[in-house]
Amino acid sequence: MNPALSASERAVNLEDEAFAERLPLETFAFLRRHAPVYWYEWSHRRGFWCITRYHDIVAVLRDHEPFSSASGANLEDWDRAQALCRRSMLETDPPRHTELRKLVSAAFSPRAVSSYESWIRPLVQQLIEETFARGGTFDALHAFAAPLPIRVIARLLGVPEADTPWLVEVSDRLMGNTDPDLSPISPYDPSSERWHLYPFRHEAALELFEYGHWLAEQRRSDPRDDLVTRLVFARLGDRPLTTAEFDNMFLLLVVAGNETTRQALAHALVAFAAFPDEAARLQQHPALLPTAVEEVLRWATPVLHFRRTARQDTELHGQRIAAGDRVVVWFISGNRDETVFPEPDRFLVDRSPNDHLTFGRTGIHFCLGTHLAKMELRIALEALLPYLTAYELAESPPRIRSNFTNGYKRLMVTVRPVQ
Ligand code: HEM
Repeated sequence: MNPALSASERAVNLEDEAFAERLPLETFAFLRRHAPVYWYEWSHRRGFWCITRYHDIVAVLRDHEPFSSASGANLEDWDRAQALCRRSMLETDPPRHTELRKLVSAAFSPRAVSSYESWIRPLVQQLIEETFARGGTFDALHAFAAPLPIRVIARLLGVPEADTPWLVEVSDRLMGNTDPDLSPISPYDPSSERWHLYPFRHEAALELFEYGHWLAEQRRSDPRDDLVTRLVFARLGDRPLTTAEFDNMFLLLVVAGNETTRQALAHALVAFAAFPDEAARLQQHPALLPTAVEEVLRWATPVLHFRRTARQDTELHGQRIAAGDRVVVWFISGNRDETVFPEPDRFLVDRSPNDHLTFGRTGIHFCLGTHLAKMELRIALEALLPYLTAYELAESPPRIRSNFTNGYKRLMVTVRPVQ
């Protein structure tokens, strides 16, 4: 398939286990240089094209006509029944995508998000007081990074705060479905077949759906100013949402709204520990917070890839992509593209410009939660400023075994007292 490639091709391993210890950044550097459009024979199912250069990724994301999302945005291929049951806006093309996105987009606009600052700040302050301000050794992922985004999205959805630890646990099982520590059922195990009509081929999706139904019933009889109420009474043309449309929207918002931002915060803590000079620089120059947030996002790249399917034959860098082929855009690679980001493997709090691909950058699926995630990160980093040079990692944080989510399972830190 790639005749130009030599023996080093054999080193290209993009299976989940290749991401378990560390990111395979040298593999992506190799692909960017020698095979920017690379056919990967996946060990589990049908292979896929890997797009690894920044500008090629942007080109694929920009145009949904040649590159559709409707047969899945992850590596699993869907049949018709799966598409009907599992499709969220993420896996939908226009015009339905436009209608679905419109139902919830107002809550994530820059103006709406700026009005949340007044309650997000005290939330962050409370979490700081319960963790970094007390000092000692603790799991910053579960005590600090996880509660913030889940409480924020819960409040927007209308989920009671008391249920947020359970939502974190359910999301962990879903996003960690390829890691045996987080989920006993692998999506590649034949036993997952009984869940193939559920997102992530996982029973946890059913638990989340049932919870969503319970909440929807509450809101039907007692409407409030929240997203679940909006979805319960929403109309697509002349009809209400189907159960599958409601379920998949609810699950998408819960999972996308908490796992990603949580891991971005965790990566920030790991990065500042690894680059103490940058931590000190940010402490001394808090005006760098906006560029630091962007650099944290580039560095973190919590979503490693998304997938499209070619609708028609296309050619890219001399490779013929046939209609029906799966095309995977590797954000993690584009964010380290040396032709766009000078010294891409350095974490620099004043990096500018920094047009990273972490949220997808362009196209109709550009992350709905961009403004919200950035605000949460800005407020959290600002509150963390006094502690940025006062903690160290108590162990090398264990990574989630996944080629989709770039995250940690635990993040033990030791914080020294701060004056
Ligand atoms: C650092 C945090 C985040 C990262 C890295 C991230 C990443 C992404 C990426 C890469 C996409 C584009 C997918 C594609 O092009 O196929 C996306 C879409 C999406 N994100 Fe985020 N996201 C984050 C935070 C959030 C938050 C806080 C929410 C809030 C609910 C959210 C909701 C969504 C939704 C609903 C979509 C689908 C949009 C569509 O299909 O039109 N995300 N996200």
